[in-house]
Amino acid sequence: SKIKFIEASGAEHVVEAKDGQSVMQAAMDNLVPGIVAECGGFANCATCHVYVDEAWGAKVPPPEPNEKDMIDCAFHVQPNSRLSCQITVTPALDGMVVRLPISQT
Ligand code: FES
Repeated sequence: SKIKFIEASGAEHVVEAKDGQSVMQAAMDNLVPGIVAECGGFANCATCHVYVDEAWGAKVPPPEPNEKDMIDCAFHVQPNSRLSCQITVTPALDGMVVRLPISQT
């Protein structure tokens, strides 16, 4: 599936993500700037924070309580904030757009 990451600066990165991997892992594999993923994908650091584009929000399963708790600790939180390590890539997400917070540039 293709996932488009848009940096706070407006720079866009379209990556080819494998089904079953996390959106964070797809960003790491493709060296997308702004996704640091300090904790390695355990919903424990919030350095993989993204905003899921409104058009895609309903296609992404809602966050588990541990993800919600960690998002509360992130900077520049918005209603569409998610931890990209907790979003699994599926064919339904092909073409998804996520934006990066200004704090992750
Ligand atoms: Fe740490 Fe996602 S990689 S919360």
